[in-house]
Amino acid sequence: MNILLAGATGTIGQAVADTLLSQGHDVICAVRPGSSLRQSGLRTVECQLTKTGSLTDALKSRPVNAVVSCMATRSGAADDAWAVEHDAQSNLMTEAAQAGAGHFVLVSAICVQKPVLAFQHAKRAFEDKLMQSGLDWSIVRPTAFFKSLSGQVARVQGGKPFLVFGDGLQTACKPISDRDLARFVVSCLSDPEKRNTLLPIGGPGPAITPLDQAAQLFALLGQPPRIRHVPLALMNGLVGTFSLLGHASKRMRDKAEFARTGRYYATESMLLWDAEQGGYDADATPEFGTDTLWDHYAKLIAGEAKTDLGAHAVF
Ligand SMILES: NC(=O)c1ccc[n+]([C@@H]2O[C@H](COP(=O)([O-])OP(=O)(O)OC[C@H]3O[C@@H](n4cnc5c(N)ncnc54)[C@H](OP(=O)(O)O)[C@@H]3O)[C@@H](O)[C@H]2O)c1
Repeated sequence: MNILLAGATGTIGQAVADTLLSQGHDVICAVRPGSSLRQSGLRTVECQLTKTGSLTDALKSRPVNAVVSCMATRSGAADDAWAVEHDAQSNLMTEAAQAGAGHFVLVSAICVQKPVLAFQHAKRAFEDKLMQSGLDWSIVRPTAFFKSLSGQVARVQGGKPFLVFGDGLQTACKPISDRDLARFVVSCLSDPEKRNTLLPIGGPGPAITPLDQAAQLFALLGQPPRIRHVPLALMNGLVGTFSLLGHASKRMRDKAEFARTGRYYATESMLLWDAEQGGYDADATPEFGTDTLWDHYAKLIAGEAKTDLGAHAVF
């Protein structure tokens, strides 16, 4: 198939590009000017998707069967979230439809079930737009990525304690590897069951808590666990302080949103939300793939893998 891929320079986008290529698809990547791809064998078109019409010329002589979008805000700041997660995705959808695409596969996030943060509201607004677009759609809502749970490996290797919020048992998730998620995303192109449906997806179970992560990390290092419990009140204090200062400065408003993001992930599980029961349901959270976070930790410790934390370093 001729696939238009957005977000190909990001974590999941790179893995999706690898999977598309390995399955013989013809891939054209919409990238920002100056962004470079890790892989060869991919065609690129430079464009500013936050502006309308930036792909029109490039797609004129090129039919597109389907679009896969792994594009997302890098900073998480409210203005960038709406510009990318809503406006750029909408422009991509319009351009792809004009080029003949009949199917849009969107990598969203499981946390949009309970939207609080600007990027979650922007994601939800675009999800709604996509569902009403007349195109076929597959909205993949993954749980936590390995990179988002690996930020403490280096500090623990450096002799520091593992930090958990509260008792370290308040949240849980079924992490999914980049490779497994990419296989799931690409399977949406050919699996009729995955059309016009919301697809929450985790990696292999069971669900794990921050305390489980700490225990496993120290076990792999052959060290007794050293865990520091950080009171949740600290996050509330940061949110309150930055929100107050945010009345006077955009920089502080962005910091407030970043603190709210930290608090969200410290208090909400990345599992399927059961609205009737009013709680997260680990058993009902679908699982896919074979890669485990524990294998990833072992590879990080052995120096066989690296984590590009990017904006997720705080987690
Ligand atoms: N981290 C997690 O644990 C987690 C869990 C569940 C779901 N998710 C979701 O999964 C999706 C993919 O995440 P990821 O970690 O792979 O993202 P990422 O590594 O941050 O990559 C974001 C991609 O979007 C592109 N992008 C950003 N701003 C753009 C703009 N203005 N115009 C065009 N392209 C732009 C980036 O291009 P540049 O290289 O040019 O910046 C990059 O290719 C996101 O929707 C995220 O919310 C994440």
